[in-house]
Amino acid sequence: MAAEIPKSRLLFPALAVLLIASLTYTVNAQGIGVNWGRAASHPLPAPKVVELLKANSIAKVKLFDADPLVLESLSGSNIHVTVGIPNSMLRSLNSSLKAAEAWVHDNLTRFVSDGASRVLIECVIPPF
Ligand SMILES: *[C@@H]1O[C@H](CO)[C@@H](O)[C@H](O)[C@H]1NC(C)=O
Ligand SMILES: *[C@@H]1O[C@H](CO)[C@@H](O)[C@H](O)[C@H]1NC(C)=O
Repeated sequence: MAAEIPKSRLLFPALAVLLIASLTYTVNAQGIGVNWGRAASHPLPAPKVVELLKANSIAKVKLFDADPLVLESLSGSNIHVTVGIPNSMLRSLNSSLKAAEAWVHDNLTRFVSDGASRVLIECVIPPF
């Protein structure tokens, strides 16, 4: 008879931690989504952030770039991921289909394989 901690109790303190890690969250019909920015002065290690997201049943996250360590830590998490393209890369990615394909190949393809460790990348979008 293990006592279960109600989710509502867990949510607030952990979200406070998430905000310190420069995450912001939005609530919509699909549940809670989190924007994962990494400009904080003391960002939490990516695996720690993913742990917090999972502990709080966060189903969706938006990234501001395709950082391989962040994508790696989302492997197998079942969290739906939107990848943002940094402003600094927009021009080159927009310059040719080849450049865009190369970017996807170099930064995303290895994370979207079929296995249990894949990252559920739903879409790639320009900066917000
Ligand atoms: C992308 O390229 C198109 C066509 O060359 C151009 O009209 C558009 O302004 C460009 N957008 C950006 C964000 O560079
Ligand atoms: C992604 O790929 C491009 C080249 O295709 C590279 O210039 C860029 O630094 C890579 N990394 C990230 C995080 O976008």
